[in-house]
Amino acid sequence: MGILDDKTIMITGAASGIGRATAVEAGAEGARLLLTDVNDEQGEAVAAEIGDGATYLHCDVTDEASVEAAVKAAVSGLGRLDCSFNCAGILGVVGNIGELPLDGWKQLIDVDLNGVFLCTKHQINVMAEQGSGSILNMASAAGLIGWPGASGYVAAKHAVVGLSKAAALEYAEQGVRVNSICPSYVITPLVEKDLFEDVLGNDEELIGAARANHPIGRFAQPEEIAAAAVWLLSDKASFVTGSAMSVDGGYTAP
Ligand SMILES: NC(=O)c1ccc[n+]([C@@H]2O[C@H](COP(=O)([O-])OP(=O)(O)OC[C@H]3O[C@@H](n4cnc5c(N)ncnc54)[C@H](O)[C@@H]3O)[C@@H](O)[C@H]2O)c1
Repeated sequence: MGILDDKTIMITGAASGIGRATAVEAGAEGARLLLTDVNDEQGEAVAAEIGDGATYLHCDVTDEASVEAAVKAAVSGLGRLDCSFNCAGILGVVGNIGELPLDGWKQLIDVDLNGVFLCTKHQINVMAEQGSGSILNMASAAGLIGWPGASGYVAAKHAVVGLSKAAALEYAEQGVRVNSICPSYVITPLVEKDLFEDVLGNDEELIGAARANHPIGRFAQPEEIAAAAVWLLSDKASFVTGSAMSVDGGYTAP
């Protein structure tokens, strides 16, 4: 018996990192999955690794037609849509706000915020019609506190927390739960490549300072976020809606 037995789930950003780890964990807990991403080669590989019960479909979360088609494919392929994890995201443009280019800002907001809006919009209509559903949106510790040098990311993630709370209130009576999840630093390509390598130049002192901000004394593995995500998606979390769950080793506790 798995906690997601008989549940159908759509996951965005499922080709890598936290989305991939959640797909694997949800499959192990009995879910049937529609995995989506823009990285088709890696997405297909994740579906193949999970095997029976997982299929992959290209979906760019910034494109409403693409999102609408993926939600329709989930319903027609899986029979219904019980849960969704809107995990796709990018680190995007970094730098102090006085130096940020508008096009980089817009790209970041498009993926990290508009993508979550479009997915939630189309998924919630299906779930409201069914009279049940659970949507989990990927925010971040940066959705709860400020991070210097990342105002676009911080703005998008704060907005994801707010959007999820508002949607939770709007659809509670129709049986749809909407939550967000707020990890701090998780060892994925977004952190190892885009942040540590490209932004911090693999400077051990800077990386050590980031690590030291975690009272638990280390960064997270994607599986540790996946465990919380699967629980929030499942009926085990039947009384949880409108929450922004920190999974951050105590990062935002001080
Ligand atoms: N890694 C962390 O420390 C951390 C912490 C908090 C929140 N997050 C959030 O978790 C989510 C996943 O990040 P990750 O660390 O696993 O990164 P990742 O780079 O490993 O995975 C992100 C995935 O999103 C996909 N993606 C990017 N743009 C897309 C688009 N337009 N449409 C569809 N898919 C798209 C990528 O192809 C990739 O497979 C992101 O929203 C990120 O902001 C990450």
